[in-house]
Amino acid sequence: MVEFSNPAAYERWMGRWSALLAPAFVSFADLPGGAHLLDLGAGTGVLSAALLKATTDSTVVGIEPATDYVAYCRSRFSDDRLCFEVGDALDIPFEEDRFDATLSLLILQELPDARRALCEMRRVTRPGGLIAASQWDFAHGMPMLTLFWDTVVEVVNNQASRQAAADCLIVDYPDDVALQNLWRAAGLTEVETTRHVVDMAFASFEDYWTPFLSNVTPTSSYASRLEPHQVAEIEKRLRGKTAGNGPDRPFTLQAHALSVRGRVPAV
Ligand SMILES: C[S@@+](CC[C@H](N)C(=O)[O-])C[C@H]1O[C@@H](n2cnc3c(N)ncnc32)[C@H](O)[C@@H]1O
Repeated sequence: MVEFSNPAAYERWMGRWSALLAPAFVSFADLPGGAHLLDLGAGTGVLSAALLKATTDSTVVGIEPATDYVAYCRSRFSDDRLCFEVGDALDIPFEEDRFDATLSLLILQELPDARRALCEMRRVTRPGGLIAASQWDFAHGMPMLTLFWDTVVEVVNNQASRQAAADCLIVDYPDDVALQNLWRAAGLTEVETTRHVVDMAFASFEDYWTPFLSNVTPTSSYASRLEPHQVAEIEKRLRGKTAGNGPDRPFTLQAHALSVRGRVPAV
């Protein structure tokens, strides 16, 4: 498995789209002011920044296993209310009831055991606190990725390519019912879900395609494992499907995300 790396390239790959999603997710989470917040799987700090912007007098701790992302966040943000630590969602390095709310943006699909992560989120969130997460609707609402994987399967057309596509697009908790059940199974109350729509505006086909060659995440490293002629054919077909076969031009792909939130029962 490729680890997340190269924070600047990640920003171009996914960070710019998580930055569009983060404000809507934070608004849905409906956080109180003056809260101590945990951003789990902080990546390049997109959600942490949105949390500080949207809430008054809050403090945010971002934890993230990729050490170069943590270093990037520490150099990018100098706000006293914000700090970043290396840490794993499956073993959160904080004591019980430390936070008023724990949030995660686009990490559920990365976790080998989301139930365990949710137990950990609950452990570090105080009674009455909030736990919320958001992820893309991979099966029905992420054309940036489905266009790529459909084209990979067309061109490469073997079991390994179908498996790689499934590994990216078929997630353990794919819809609002699955997310609600996961949250309720963790003993959370007042469970709600919502759908967000994000317009991903690409300046050109190059703007869409280049991040697929950036090698910074499991999906964006897939092309580097293919033969050059396969990559060239995938690029040609994808160009036709997105910007068309004429001169390069801007285009927009609409993405959908699902968010879930719930409350830790008060004791
Ligand atoms: C798609 S990125 C999302 C990053 C950021 N939250 C955002 O929205 O831009 C997924 C992140 O999950 C992190 N991640 C992967 N496994 C993790 C784990 N076990 N615990 C915490 N974070 C994890 C990755 O390192 C990566 O930064």
